[in-house]
Amino acid sequence: MALMNTAAPLSYRQDFPLLVNQPQLSYLDSAASAQKPQAVLAAMEEAHTQYYANIHRGLYELSAKSTSAYEAARTKIARFIGAPSPDTIVFTRNATEAINLVASSWAGAFLQKGDAVLISELEHHANIVPWQILRDKIGIELQIARIEEDGSLTATAVANAMTDRTKLVALTHMSNALGTLPEVEKIIPLAQQAGAKVLIDGSQAVVHQSVDVQALDADFYVFTGHKLYGPSGIGVLYAKADLLAAMPPYQGGGEMIKEVTFANTTYADAPAKFEAGTPNIVGAIGLGAAVDYLATLDRPAVYAQEQALLSQLTTALQTVPDLTLYGTATAKASIASFTLAGISAQDIGIILDQCHVAVRVGHHCAQPLMQRLGTPATVRASLGIYNNQADMEALIQGLHTVRKLCG
Ligand code: ALA
Repeated sequence: MALMNTAAPLSYRQDFPLLVNQPQLSYLDSAASAQKPQAVLAAMEEAHTQYYANIHRGLYELSAKSTSAYEAARTKIARFIGAPSPDTIVFTRNATEAINLVASSWAGAFLQKGDAVLISELEHHANIVPWQILRDKIGIELQIARIEEDGSLTATAVANAMTDRTKLVALTHMSNALGTLPEVEKIIPLAQQAGAKVLIDGSQAVVHQSVDVQALDADFYVFTGHKLYGPSGIGVLYAKADLLAAMPPYQGGGEMIKEVTFANTTYADAPAKFEAGTPNIVGAIGLGAAVDYLATLDRPAVYAQEQALLSQLTTALQTVPDLTLYGTATAKASIASFTLAGISAQDIGIILDQCHVAVRVGHHCAQPLMQRLGTPATVRASLGIYNNQADMEALIQGLHTVRKLCG
């Protein structure tokens, strides 16, 4: 079916070589991993071919250049999320590692048996399992804030799940499976007033909305590079400076020390204290290029266009027979999650692939959420800045093909 026209659509597809090389492809799996713009590929190529060397170690020119590009990326990322200083930005492998770092270092040192960590039914496994590991290790309690039928997570639900034992509230800023946006602006002060720290998993939200960690007053904010049009293998932990200063190291090794003797080791200050070993140097530089690229865009206009496409897609999906949408809250972004009665999500994904439409099917690393929704899996279409009306139409056409083929 034809979708409404978007006035003067913004078009970024031509910035993404993979999509230029695959003109037939409707890539609707950016929530799993986004495609990379030429600017990112070029910055990584330049780093590898023009000035690559290990960082913080060599006195020679290449190493100095490599070090300054790596540290410049940290500064760009601090600016991108409104962090007060580059020293509050720790490079990790991904958001998962950033959460594990907080669970192991901060929570491992400052929580004890009987304390509680509050998460929600929306969480990705990356924000569930590290807390279960900690629970099994030191005996913390895991508290769960319940979502509404439409997939929204309210401040009231968080308040209802909190007790005076809650020492950390760890929540997604945007559900990877439904796209719903929890009321984090209300939840953060509420949790802090009750004496808890707050960790926000911004892996999805930071891609679509401008984030200011100081305005939010998040204690910890994590995200990953590969969803933000940057490379894989690089992620970010932002934490308030006093927390980083008090936290013990996560991993030991080179780069994170001041002095080592066999008797004793003294540690470097943050962020080096948390970056043991040779890091993903070119990955960090690539992520710096990704945020540079995003800074050239009118991000509110891009977000408005994504929201308009999502709204048109949602309307069109409702015309597909026997389709159930999951996550129908008003506050949501860039993701449509659904099932078709009588047809497995896997079969839908395979047929859509034959129609050149790439979506993710399955539990989206959010099995407790699927259990709450009463379905083992959904089909998830997730939008990025390169998507357009043709992609939405391809998905709807593809679903009609699925219906024809599967009855
Ligand atoms: N977290 C990624 C997703 O939602 C992998 O697909």
